Amino acid sequence: MKILIIDDHQPTLALLSAIIKKGGYEPVTASQGAEALDVIRGEDIGVVFTDLVMPGMDGLTFLQEAKGVDAELPVIMMTGQGSVETAVEAMRRGAEDYLSKPIKRDEVLVQIERALEKRKLLRENRELKGELADRYTFETIIGNSRKMQEVFKLIAKVADVDSTVLIRGENGTGKDLVAKAIHYNSKRKDGPFVKIDCTALPEGLLESELFGYKKGAFTGAHRDKPGRVENADGGTLFLDEISELDLPLQAKILRLIQEHRFERLGENQVRDVNIRIVASTNRDLEKEMEEGRFRRDLFYRLNVVPITLPPLREREGDIIIITKALLERTCQRYNRRLEGISQGAVEALERYPWPGNVRELENLIERMVVLTDGDKVNVTLENLPETILAAEDGFLGHAVAQGLSLDELEREYIKAVLARTSGHKAEAAQILGINRKTLLEKRKRYNLE
Ligand SMILES: Nc1ncnc2c1ncn2[C@@H]1O[C@H](COP(=O)(O)OP(=O)(O)O)[C@@H](O)[C@H]1O
Ligand SMILES: [Mg+2]
Repeated sequence: MKILIIDDHQPTLALLSAIIKKGGYEPVTASQGAEALDVIRGEDIGVVFTDLVMPGMDGLTFLQEAKGVDAELPVIMMTGQGSVETAVEAMRRGAEDYLSKPIKRDEVLVQIERALEKRKLLRENRELKGELADRYTFETIIGNSRKMQEVFKLIAKVADVDSTVLIRGENGTGKDLVAKAIHYNSKRKDGPFVKIDCTALPEGLLESELFGYKKGAFTGAHRDKPGRVENADGGTLFLDEISELDLPLQAKILRLIQEHRFERLGENQVRDVNIRIVASTNRDLEKEMEEGRFRRDLFYRLNVVPITLPPLREREGDIIIITKALLERTCQRYNRRLEGISQGAVEALERYPWPGNVRELENLIERMVVLTDGDKVNVTLENLPETILAAEDGFLGHAVAQGLSLDELEREYIKAVLARTSGHKAEAAQILGINRKTLLEKRKRYNLE
């Protein structure tokens, strides 16, 4: 490992070089700051010792320049006796340490070791974080549509503040992905991301899973166990499908949000926890509240920042982008070569309403790639499944896309026929195959008057 020494005083260079060589490192010397910067740019230097007062560039200026070349390069400032102030100033500007003259051998070697160790840790840490952050950058959420751009903006905005976030959207629209993106782009990213799927466990188990329990709290509780809430301390707790919690559990979550406090089951001790809560739902929470299944106060607490993911069919242009990206990824995974995708297939995919959203598209692509004979994948109309091809265009396609109920469909149709007949009821009744009285009743029921 090379150690760079900068000093205009030849005997100091010689002394330090000798110490460094004895310590098993390779000394490199420079008598001026400018020269030293060239060395840093050209060679892999582990630690730098620089004199403070030199002709030309002084030590503090060199420090600043050197940080511009390599922000993590440890620079140790050498100072004459009694210049503690300057040493402190150097540390404030990013020097790793300072070495006061006269130079002591042991001190030099300890400083080198410490600086190298710290640098190694920094590097490892950065690599680890880089890996994690890369996995959840916005790149993994594919989409160019205006609606998704809005979502990206919201994610960027809420990631930094510590507020509670409610992610809404149909199944398969990417709620999990967004929850992770929020966590890994927030200042909690080095803390844990803990997800709890509220649909996965029956209520009793869910509660102990969330809050943990004390030994003996119930049969089978053989030891104390922390819950997911505690596991998430310092990070983010993702409550997936929160509408599935029963009312008592909703009350406990409300307290957790308001007070950052909870108790393990069977224990009286109140525990504090530092978590951010992100929740998701695919349900109409307004309706759940009206029907008394979801607490209003919890809703308002959660809904501080709502992010609503549009269904895939409403993201203009995204179906094809996502299809191509997923095809490439899946072909790679299964060692197939992607030949192409025909225009007809593209149109069919765009016409289909995707009730299962991106998850459905992902499954379709995986199935197609796996079922392909040979190693080339070619997506054409012929190898798209029947369900995709059968998707109706026009009115029915629209109805399916909107997920209309039979009543809603009837209302839409009656409205359209009345418009067609310019409000002529007898004519409309005839087209609809019902009598005038029934038409009037339906018109009233559907508020079409
Ligand atoms: N915009 C997107 N780009 C790429 N993949 C996506 C996108 N949205 C969702 N996915 C993928 O689709 C699947 C379903 O997403 P998920 O986040 O689990 O949906 P949800 O939680 O809303 O049901 C996941 O495998 C996810 O990686
Ligand atoms: Mg989900």
